[in-house]
Amino acid sequence: MQKKKKREHWNSKIGFILAAAGSAIGLGNIWKFPYVVGDNGGAAFIIIYLLCVLLLGLPVIISEIIIGRTTQLNPVGAFKALSKSKLWPMIGGMGILAGFIILSFYAVVAGWSAGYIIEAISGHFYNFTTPEAAGKHFTALTQNVSWIVSWFAVFMGLTISIVYFGVQKGIELGSKILMPLLFIILFILMINGLTLDGASEGLKFLFHPDWSKITGGTILEALGQAFFTLSLGMGAMLTYGSYMSKKDNVPTASVEIVFLDTLIAVVAGIAIFTAVFSTGQSPTVGAGLIFHTLPVVFTKMTGGYFFSIIFFILLAIAALTSTISLLEVVVAYFVDEKGWERHKAVIVFGGITFLIGIPSALSFNVLSDFHIFGLTFFDLADYFSANILLPFGGMMISIFIGWIWGVDNALKELHNGAENIFEKTPYLIPVWTFLIKFVAPISIFIILINSIGLLDTIINLFN
Ligand code: TRP
Repeated sequence: MQKKKKREHWNSKIGFILAAAGSAIGLGNIWKFPYVVGDNGGAAFIIIYLLCVLLLGLPVIISEIIIGRTTQLNPVGAFKALSKSKLWPMIGGMGILAGFIILSFYAVVAGWSAGYIIEAISGHFYNFTTPEAAGKHFTALTQNVSWIVSWFAVFMGLTISIVYFGVQKGIELGSKILMPLLFIILFILMINGLTLDGASEGLKFLFHPDWSKITGGTILEALGQAFFTLSLGMGAMLTYGSYMSKKDNVPTASVEIVFLDTLIAVVAGIAIFTAVFSTGQSPTVGAGLIFHTLPVVFTKMTGGYFFSIIFFILLAIAALTSTISLLEVVVAYFVDEKGWERHKAVIVFGGITFLIGIPSALSFNVLSDFHIFGLTFFDLADYFSANILLPFGGMMISIFIGWIWGVDNALKELHNGAENIFEKTPYLIPVWTFLIKFVAPISIFIILINSIGLLDTIINLFN
């Protein structure tokens, strides 16, 4: 029996923007973006990344949001409502699966950031004078099963307790409190970074392009990062869009979300690289930048104790507003399609995600030698979701809008609430149409082939 309950909606436009920007702004911006920029030659990479965000991210985010808004449903229900074929709801189903998988490893790393707040408060960073020493401490913590599993549990608990209260009283209220806090903390960290001696070295690294570092691989990396950071390809934005009303302006909201996400990534880059350069550390250390290099940076900085604490609070907040969007996708599916009650869905699927995330948490200790296709559980979950499921989902969404549901239907829906844009900037319509029909599917297809090619090499290596 289908119980038709009235669907919850965002209480305000700013509430939606903050929630969606909260989903987008996460570990991808503050942990991943700076080190990927560091590894790929700084400013030149940023320029390519910005192009990917504009030409690919923006048209796809608009598409996801309108599919959600027009159907007022979760990813599976939305595709069911808009097409007769069985294929499309399966694409929605893949999104739900991707949500589960991403949440299961993402919340493990999110747990580290929460655990590091305590490390910062207890002043442990003062024991380290080199990134190697901080790295050893990090390894020791992540090798400690009870540390890693309990922080993962804490983080899942926080996520569950926000999603439990629903769209307005949970996600929207949480985002309205957490996002301004995030902006303030990041602003303080950026100002601090800019006042350090040697800050200009960091800025030069970020804003002075070195084109010699750009290769085909870099471009693909930039595309992948653009997708992940905007929470695209699995129906998260679709689900958030399904709580919007017809009066809301989708194109402007999308531009605002994309702008905030990009701004935060760049500001995080400024805060981090000014500090890294001013203390003479290396910018190109990869994924360990935040947990190995930054603790040492803080010990060398005036007020470092305070800044280290707020930095890890920032990281945890950014991660939390993202994990709630991942859980919400799964919950929305069970509420809409299976008639589950929200509270029950949140607890059951939050709990299941915790269980399927345990092998990812154990990938850093007891299961570190257990490999599938040469990857640990954690790396496999990350690789499979971010490099395969998300690009595939994004490609299918652009094909769906461009060729199946059709641009005309999409434009009709897009028109609601955005009348001014259609009147004042009509030339943007053919641009969006061209991007969504051709540029997005083709370029995502290329990323995907590349990912799968990589997978082949990995399989060959370990057979
Ligand atoms: N965008 C988030 C980040 O940058 C991660 C994230 C949250 C995500 N929800 C998502 C990624 C949905 C893909 C799909 O950290």
